[in-house]
Amino acid sequence: MPLIKFLRSTVGLKIIMGVTGAALFAFTVIHMVGNLQIFLGQEALNNYAQMLHASDEVIWGFRLGLGAVAALHIICAVVLTIRNRAARGSEAYAEYAAPGASLASRTMAISGVIVAAFIIFHLLHFTTQSIDPSFKELTEIHKGVERHDVYAMVIKGFQVPWVSAFYIISVALVSFHLSHGIASCFRSMGLTNPAYREVQEWFGLAFAVIIFVGMAAVPAAVLLGLVKL
Ligand code: HEM
Repeated sequence: MPLIKFLRSTVGLKIIMGVTGAALFAFTVIHMVGNLQIFLGQEALNNYAQMLHASDEVIWGFRLGLGAVAALHIICAVVLTIRNRAARGSEAYAEYAAPGASLASRTMAISGVIVAAFIIFHLLHFTTQSIDPSFKELTEIHKGVERHDVYAMVIKGFQVPWVSAFYIISVALVSFHLSHGIASCFRSMGLTNPAYREVQEWFGLAFAVIIFVGMAAVPAAVLLGLVKL
């Protein structure tokens, strides 16, 4: 079967990594823009959060889709890493890195594992609110209806200095992982001409910086008291 052959091939796995990585990147950009609404105030952020949760079908469809995309991305990464290591035998990874390979490209597996650990913490923190169950009680009355006060939750969450520091370090790693991911995504999609390599690397770096600044701005602003209850 051509499909099974494709899925087993290294090229096939790299294409799946590229497509799923691009989808995860798109989610990160949208999430960042959503988070930045905190600077527009409580009403704006809570309206946005309420809109996201308006339909159980939509939010669960989205969560399952995102979970499946992330799972595919991780499975392909694990299989490709195992294959790479087997092909290299017992020799150290760095000795076989492509000449001129960036630090980000040589550390994709470890930065990926740390990003996955951060996302698990983040979901327990703000989505299930298991790390601090008092977040569940943060509500406000809007147009006569009670709703979750996501604005208050985010501010209370980031007023804890170690939590903010952990988020800022984690989003730096997310950006570091993305900087190489974006560049290599182009190559996985077939844009392999070496003439474009430098442009691809710059594009990856520029987006990574935007993501870092946009994501880290929220915990940093709360810590500095620029956004408060
Ligand atoms: C400092 C930066 C971040 C802030 C302030 C932030 C904020 C939030 C908040 C408030 C929620 C809960 C939304 C709600 O329940 O209404 C959430 C959910 C989520 N965040 Fe973040 N986030 C940040 C970084 C990230 C990063 C870097 C990722 C992954 C790349 C990420 C992935 C997610 C996911 C997957 C959800 C769950 C969405 C759902 O199913 O409800 N977040 N985030």
